[in-house]
Amino acid sequence: MKHERRKPFPNDFLWGGSTSAYQVEGAWNEDGKGPSVIDMAKYPEGTTDFKVASDHYHRYKEDIALFAEMGFKAYRFSIAWTRIYPNGDGEVNRKGIEFYDQLINEIRKHGIEPIVTIYHFDLPYALQEKGGWSNRATIDAYENYCKTLFEHFGDRVKYWLTINEQNMMILHGEAIGTVDPNLKNPKKELYQQNHHMFVAQAKAMALCHQMLPDAKIGPAPNIVTIYPASSKPEDVLAANNYAAIRNWLYLDMAVYGRYNNIAWAYLEEKGYTPTILEGDMEILQNAKPDFIAFNYYTSQTVAASEGNEEDVNQTGDQHITVGEPGVYKGASNPHLKKNEFGWEIDPVGFRTTLREIYDRYHLPLIVTENGLGAIDQLEEGDVINDTYRIEFLRNHIEQMQLAISDGVEVFGFCPWSAIDLVSTHQGISKRYGFIYVNRDEFDLKDLRRIRKQSFYWYKQVISSNGANL
Ligand code: BG6
Repeated sequence: MKHERRKPFPNDFLWGGSTSAYQVEGAWNEDGKGPSVIDMAKYPEGTTDFKVASDHYHRYKEDIALFAEMGFKAYRFSIAWTRIYPNGDGEVNRKGIEFYDQLINEIRKHGIEPIVTIYHFDLPYALQEKGGWSNRATIDAYENYCKTLFEHFGDRVKYWLTINEQNMMILHGEAIGTVDPNLKNPKKELYQQNHHMFVAQAKAMALCHQMLPDAKIGPAPNIVTIYPASSKPEDVLAANNYAAIRNWLYLDMAVYGRYNNIAWAYLEEKGYTPTILEGDMEILQNAKPDFIAFNYYTSQTVAASEGNEEDVNQTGDQHITVGEPGVYKGASNPHLKKNEFGWEIDPVGFRTTLREIYDRYHLPLIVTENGLGAIDQLEEGDVINDTYRIEFLRNHIEQMQLAISDGVEVFGFCPWSAIDLVSTHQGISKRYGFIYVNRDEFDLKDLRRIRKQSFYWYKQVISSNGANL
């Protein structure tokens, strides 16, 4: 369907941008902040750590003013758990509360809607030392942290996201730096952690509805369409397997409070089923999200696996399928071009993904990440001619509008990233922002902010409510 007459974007559409605390803030040990698992992780050689990042902690006013200049209607960012509770639980750190008070006030002062991710990969290290998500006490710590956030910021924050990309932490946690290297039986343990995160998420949703009746809350997994490598029935089945394991396990749980049957059969087959305590399923079934937020960068293609160990591909990248012997194996899609980092570019797959999610759950959708990581060149006269990023976003926005014309309810688009920040495992040189941050991997230079070409382009996209792409 070409939709010669496309539906316009809704008038109150939330055009914005996204960041996460540890990737943008810096100030990693200032004002009482405790270390997170990310602060303690090992980084690939040649890439920076997250100690200074984009120094947003000290420059947030300038950054928010730039977001406002672009016309942002919404800004999606995360709160660092370790600023609020340096040890994960226990004493609240007043300075942490103060920082986010000021940040939220600044965002709202510019008429921008804050969208808060409660937890974006940066689990407090103190909790990790006690077993992290393997320990059920982390569920209580998370619930207590949520309560503190709702109490302090609930008067000004209407949109909450429970956990960023829980599915990526389970499937690609080693690349991201969230997996405890000491886990003895990592896969089995990760699915136990997954279960605990599900319970924590359900508790957060219930608590939010109880404490803040006007607020809205939802999950934020990474969801993408999965293609079979061919029309061979076994490949189609493999795609079906992977879609259940990667996508629907997470959304079926968030929306319906039940384990997806195909994903559960896979857990049984592999011996990864988690221990479920009495009362857990009730908690899971009683919590309901108000919307689904999801991140999309690329689609995935898989083929049947005969069960060979070679079908596992450990590239250490969260968008290259790992594969599971006998279940599915990663394949490349000959119809798609790749970005500089090997991620396939698939705007049409974005439309399919939007359709698939809406078709299954019929909840309003918001895109909380989408974007292009690239090595930008700073040219003479402070010019960054990132036409490739404009093209990427234009094509994806176009497909999003087509999905809206298909009848999919989408209420916002917050691409990654509002401003340059440090990638999960590929340093600051892999840039995503509309605003350039003048630093290199190890040379912090002056960290000054420079508007890229995409900044001016996105500004007119927003002011025309998506009519001028
Ligand atoms: C998502 C994460 O997986 O993708 C972000 O939510 C991340 O934190 C983004 O930065 C892009 O991935 P990367 O690895 O290029 O930083």
